[in-house]
Amino acid sequence: MKTTKKIIENLVALTKRRGFIFPSSEIYGGFSSCYDFGPLGVELKRNIKNEWWREMTQLSENIVGLDASILMNPKVWEASGHLQGFADELVECFSCKKRFKQDETTKAGKCPECQGRLSEPKKFNLMMKTFTGPVENEAAVTYLRAETCQGIYVNFKNVLQSMRLKLPFGIAQIGKAFRNEITPKNFIFRMREFEQMEMQWFCKKEEAHQFFEKWKEKRYQWYLKLGIKKENLRFREVPAVERAHYAVEQVDIEYHFPFGWQEIEGIHNRGEWDLSRHTKYSSQDLSYFDPQTKEKYFPHIVETSVGVERSLLAFLIDAYEEVPGGRTKTTKASKEIEVVLKLSKRLAPIKVAVLPLLSNKKELVSKAREVFFMLKPAFLCQYDDQGSIGRRYRRQDEQGTPFALTIDFETLKDETVTLRDRDTMAQERIKIQDLISVISSKLVN
Ligand code: GAP
Repeated sequence: MKTTKKIIENLVALTKRRGFIFPSSEIYGGFSSCYDFGPLGVELKRNIKNEWWREMTQLSENIVGLDASILMNPKVWEASGHLQGFADELVECFSCKKRFKQDETTKAGKCPECQGRLSEPKKFNLMMKTFTGPVENEAAVTYLRAETCQGIYVNFKNVLQSMRLKLPFGIAQIGKAFRNEITPKNFIFRMREFEQMEMQWFCKKEEAHQFFEKWKEKRYQWYLKLGIKKENLRFREVPAVERAHYAVEQVDIEYHFPFGWQEIEGIHNRGEWDLSRHTKYSSQDLSYFDPQTKEKYFPHIVETSVGVERSLLAFLIDAYEEVPGGRTKTTKASKEIEVVLKLSKRLAPIKVAVLPLLSNKKELVSKAREVFFMLKPAFLCQYDDQGSIGRRYRRQDEQGTPFALTIDFETLKDETVTLRDRDTMAQERIKIQDLISVISSKLVN
């Protein structure tokens, strides 16, 4: 059994080697907790966001989308309670002067790094401050948003009226959020700049709890549908003392990371907190007029909120498999550790690899390139003719490509190719003219 540290180290190395994730500004020594997504990472990220967006908007009857700005009037953050309540407890080491978030590792009062004495905890606000305009004074202070949902609340009336909506309905948004985390850690698990996918469900007070339960279940099923193993997923009811300042009810969906069970998504019943506070602070009435009962009231909000990178890390870890000695016993490579990234076919960055059996046979290369350009409009494909065919299969396995096509001498005779399945390694002969329909049907699940 490999240690947790080793698995994470190997995965981090793989994500760099295969172009998923690079440390930000690496040539300058990196920049704490910031990461860049490479050619495969950006595809994986986009596929996760597309799956979420499709589920929320296209497959639901009454959820619409929004893309609000990152910089907002600073009053938003007063109203939301973030300027006052969005803080972590921070302790500082008297010896090495490092600062840590107060948690299990610091509760005993000793520095986790040098064992020095720690200070009493102090409140530390996580909002990222910046200035707008040419003068850097108090009047120009603003904040990078700490959660995307505030853009939804302040647009509640705009969306309601322009789309002629009636309760219950939802507004979905994907976008960047920023938090000045005291101790960002565990690769892309806790970052200072990240993306959130948030959906705010507006409903009557009496129905909020029932919708909270419904959204819990729907969100749990989404991870299972995208291949997360059931044994690695669980709910955690968050007790009142730990809840966010706006939450009446809160459940976290947790994933079993190699470093323990940790939240990947929060489901919150936010009551009427947000709309009533923004009404108070903006002096604009954000209540809802119910055409049936003729009453005016603040809708209650049930929120689902997940980090794109954090869920991406869970998808990667869940899909990551090391096979000591390799799966193929017939090649030299069988002495090595082979890695297979069993990502859901829907999430996999590259769907099909096109491989000529030999790179020095002109007829094979030219046929392979013809097949590659035929498939490209339908799927994200990669053409690869470097190295032995066994090595090329393994490169594709490592980056999670579900299908590899090999163009061989038989292809030249009968217009068929070998289609290899990443997970089973089973191979079948398919007619070139049937490839798009066969692969499309296999990609649906
Ligand atoms: N609007 C509610 C909200 O922001 P949250 O529990 O603070 O709730 C929701 O965050 C999700 O955003 C988390 O479950 C996590 O997936 C992601 N997230 C929060 N802070 C993060 C960070 N520093 N780095 C990466 N992801 C983060």
